[in-house]
This record gives sequence, C-alpha cells and structure tokens, in this order.
Amino acid sequence: MIMQPVLYWPQRVHSGLVGGGSRIGRAGGEGPKRGIELNRVRVRVAVVGASGYAGAELISLLAHHPGVAELHVISRQHAGEPVGKVWPHLVHREDLLFEPLASEELAASVDCIFGSTPAGAARELAVPAVRHGVRYIDLGADFRLHDPDLYPRYYKFSHEGEALSLLGEAVYGLPEVHREEIKQARVVANPGCYPTAVLLGLAPLLRHGLVARDGRAVQVAALSGVSGAGATPAAGYHFPEMTENARPYQVATHRHTPEMEQEAAALAGYAVPFTFVPHLIPASRGILATCFVPLEEPLKAARALELYRETYRGERFVRVLGEEALPQIKAVAGSNFCDVTVRMAADGKTAVVLAAIDNLRKGAAGQAVQNFNLMFGWPEETALTGYPLFP
Ligand SMILES: NC(=O)c1ccc[n+]([C@@H]2O[C@H](COP(=O)([O-])OP(=O)(O)OC[C@H]3O[C@@H](n4cnc5c(N)ncnc54)[C@H](OP(=O)(O)O)[C@@H]3O)[C@@H](O)[C@H]2O)c1
Repeated sequence: MIMQPVLYWPQRVHSGLVGGGSRIGRAGGEGPKRGIELNRVRVRVAVVGASGYAGAELISLLAHHPGVAELHVISRQHAGEPVGKVWPHLVHREDLLFEPLASEELAASVDCIFGSTPAGAARELAVPAVRHGVRYIDLGADFRLHDPDLYPRYYKFSHEGEALSLLGEAVYGLPEVHREEIKQARVVANPGCYPTAVLLGLAPLLRHGLVARDGRAVQVAALSGVSGAGATPAAGYHFPEMTENARPYQVATHRHTPEMEQEAAALAGYAVPFTFVPHLIPASRGILATCFVPLEEPLKAARALELYRETYRGERFVRVLGEEALPQIKAVAGSNFCDVTVRMAADGKTAVVLAAIDNLRKGAAGQAVQNFNLMFGWPEETALTGYPLFP
C-alpha cells in the first residue's frame, strides 16, 4: 500500500445519514474539511469476474483512477488473453492481460478486491481476502442481506463459518445512506441495481416516517436494460425475442425484494413491505423504477419535492428533478447519477416516486468505485465525474 500525503480541496463536503438527521449527505458534517491534509492511499486492486459486464465497467473506471497503483483483472475463461480480446472498447490495452483465479495468491498480493461474480461465489473469495487484510467490495448478493436465513430461500445457498461472520459485519454499500460505515468496512456489499434506484427514490419519504405503517405495500414496477442479466447469452435475451418487446419476470418473487425491505425498514424504523415487478426492455443499459407509495397522511406535491431537495442537497450523484422534468434512462446512461423525483396522486395520500440509473454504473461498478473512494480516502467522485451519454 503506498501512502501519499496530499492536500485535498474537496468540491463538496459529505457526511452520512447514519446517526440521524433529516438530510442525507449534510454539508459541514464529519467529512474532510477544505484544505486539510489527508493521506490518500494508492493501492493494488483486483477485479474478479472481469470478463463480465460489470467487470468490464470496473476496468474502464479503475484503469484511470489515481488511487490504483496496480490493476489485476481476473477471468478463469480468458486467463492469458489481453482484455481487448473480450472487450472491443478496451482493444488499446494490449498490456492488460486477464489473469487466472488463484484466491490465496490474490489475497496475498493486493489491497482491495472487487468481486464482480454471480451470487454465491464471493463467500469463497472474501474469506481468504479478509484474512490477509484485503478489503472486499462484492458486487453480487452474498453479503447484502443481514438475515442469513433469507439466503437459502432467495439464493439457494447459505453461509457457514467465517463467511457467516463476514455476513454479520458486511456494510450495505449505499453511500448516500451508509457513508460513515463504508469508510471503515472490511467487506462492502454493493447494492443490487433495482434496490439502488428504488431506495434512493424512497429514502426521503422513509427517513421522515411518511410511508404507511399499516402494512400496505410499496408497489414498484421497474424497467431494466438487458445488460442487467450479465454477459452470458440466453434465448430470452436473443435479439429477435427482445427487440420491440417488453416483458415482466419474477413477478412479486424477485430476489431484490428482501433487500429493499431490509433497507427500507432500517431507514423508516418500522417494517415496509414491497410488491416488486421487474420488466426487461430492449435497451442495453438503464433502470427506470416507478414506485407507488402509500403514505401515513396527506402530503402536498410542493412539500414532497422540497423534502427531496433537502434530503439530497450536497449529494454529488443524486439529481432531484423538479416539476418540469421526469427521470429517464437516456439522461443517466453512462454516468453515476441517479435522477429522482416525486409526484402526488389525486388522492393526496399516494406518492409516485420515479428514479433512473445506469444499472452498470450507479447500479454496479460506479457505485462500487464510489465505495472504494470512501474506503481509501479519495474524494467520493474520483473517476466518476463523467457526464451521461446523450442521446
Ligand atoms: N449487470 C448488472 O447490471 C449488475 C448490476 C448490479 C449487480 N450486478 C451483479 O454483479 C455481478 C456481476 O454481474 P455481471 O452482469 O457482470 O455478470 P456476468 O456478465 O455474468 O459476469 C460474471 C463473471 O464472473 C465470473 N465468474 C463466474 N463464476 C465465478 C466464480 N465461481 N468465481 C470467479 N469468477 C466467476 C465469470 O468470468 P470467468 O468465467 O471468465 O471467470 C463471469 O464473466 C453479479 O453478481 C450481478 O448480480 C450486476
């Protein structure tokens, strides 16, 4: 690990929502102050699962991150090949070769591992890593749910031994909510793509206890681009079947539901059930979530919007849209932004919340790098300042 004392001039100053207060990311909190000398840390980093879509996004972000002293990209299938062989947009990186997976050797030779692997794989990878003092950021689901009993039901595996104790200490990596805990974490569970959009959309209402407490569910319909399903081809994602199509899947049974319920309950302080219906649309990237939220009491539209603005003032990556605009995938694609807004239904007691993210950025690799920045003392926006691709 290379310690580099530098003078830090932050554009914004953040603290987390944890510990109370009505605003997420309050300026002037415990974050670094203007002109303070910090120890920025340059570290050796590995991406496991670098031949997957989220892994490719991580390579693009980490390859020019000033905090990365060494970048190792791991692929079991493509070990020895240059990354450009799998990823055409990285063809100029002839020097960057996929390396084979050897968990113990890897744990002994890097400071941080991004696990961009399918659910179930990270349990095996994180244990030796943490034993060697390596910090682990898991993009999969292995460490997201605090209740181990939910895993056999939703993921068909369970945690034992050291993996179980890592599950107990892992921090849910939604920086706008858990910023201070993430800074100290050894294992960060990067949120799922749908929960990222939904939770950022609902946090202002949840945090203020405005969501109904009588057991009525928050209803969520969300659209996702097909890259959300990963790089492995499958019949249902085949062009003739996906183009000009939109189709629901895992209606009210999707595994991201308990994740939303866990974090919503933590924000609200009481149980909030969800009915969640995801849909695939013929787009490469992006998620658009529409949430119908039963409220405790009537809320005026102007007050609702004000609440959103207050909550996210100072947050670099959450853009609250006013009355004149609505979130859309194209406006966030290729960026780490989450666009959110709120409208009131005619009954005055149901909020309609809309949120858009790029599933591979704020929904996966971008958020993972945001967490990395927090963990290693870099300004939170490092390597994430790119604007969306539009049109
Ligand atoms: N795609 C998204 O929008 C998105 C958003 C949020 C979260 N996530 C989560 O992020 C993770 C990666 O997603 P993805 O879309 O990039 O998936 P993907 O395209 O299927 O890539 C996963 C990669 O993991 C590697 N892998 C598979 N099993 C492994 C194992 N047992 N040990 C080590 N490596 C293994 C594979 O590479 P090799 O076989 O070459 O080693 C594969 O290329 C998943 O958990 C996913 O749920 C994805």
